[in-house]
Amino acid sequence: MAAHIIDGKTVSLKIREEAKQRAAVLREKGIIPCLAVVVAGEDPASLSYVKAKGKALAEADMEGRDIRLPAAVTETELLDLIANLNNDEKVHGILVQLPLPRHIDENKVIAAIDPAKDVDGFHPVSAGNMILGRPGFLPCTPHGVLALLKELPVSLSGAHAVVVGRSNIVGTPLANLLTRRNVNATVTVCHTGTKDLARHTLQADILIAAAGKPALIKPEMVKPGAVVIDVGVNRVEDSSAKNGYRLCGDVDPAVAEKAAYLTPVPGGVGPMTIAMLLRNVIQAAEAVKI
Ligand code: GUN
Repeated sequence: MAAHIIDGKTVSLKIREEAKQRAAVLREKGIIPCLAVVVAGEDPASLSYVKAKGKALAEADMEGRDIRLPAAVTETELLDLIANLNNDEKVHGILVQLPLPRHIDENKVIAAIDPAKDVDGFHPVSAGNMILGRPGFLPCTPHGVLALLKELPVSLSGAHAVVVGRSNIVGTPLANLLTRRNVNATVTVCHTGTKDLARHTLQADILIAAAGKPALIKPEMVKPGAVVIDVGVNRVEDSSAKNGYRLCGDVDPAVAEKAAYLTPVPGGVGPMTIAMLLRNVIQAAEAVKI
């Protein structure tokens, strides 16, 4: 039987609606939740993400402050900008779109963001709080994956989750969140050093592909009835497509014949990331003392 296709768009709209209601409560107190989005350079994928974020903020009656910098911006200029945004009481969240131009040290820039405004959850303080299970901002994509999994009529407690990919943005934090007591999965993390990837993925009750490799996960690598979450957003050339490329996940669409549940690309995890970002901005704005 073909997999049920998980509709991330619908789930994300519920979360965005909730963010909009919380934004309205804040507005009554004179607080307009505001996210500053900083982009350096012209990376087409980054510009398209940023556009989607701006639209989602506007639809939730939140403010987006769009800051575009040339690719040649210096690290010092970027750090000065972040210092200004940290001190700006009207700005509740700061998001620096990654990747940054190569001459800029990403770690230094992320570390410069006030952890109280780190709505991406990338600051070492946020990462530390997450690992310790303390309150803080959770990174949006892993948090979105978790929220999608919780929507399914599938028990996560005691399930074997296999995460393919160990990035700081997705694989590593997701593995951590899945092992938390309130989720209670048993987690295997696979990466480029893993020998015989299929041997591991075949064990997965929940398989999460976050490797950034188009169609890496084939049907023969999936246990029948598994839940498969595709975090991949790969641009592959396609001369028949309008822009000359199409989006392709890390999971071969033929996996739908094996899995019980599968997220599509686009329309699965992507919309959830943006929804969780709005939620984090609201969380930051609600934490402001008035
Ligand atoms: N680049 C790819 N994903 C992300 C994300 O979630 N946040 C930021 N800031 N940059 C990214």
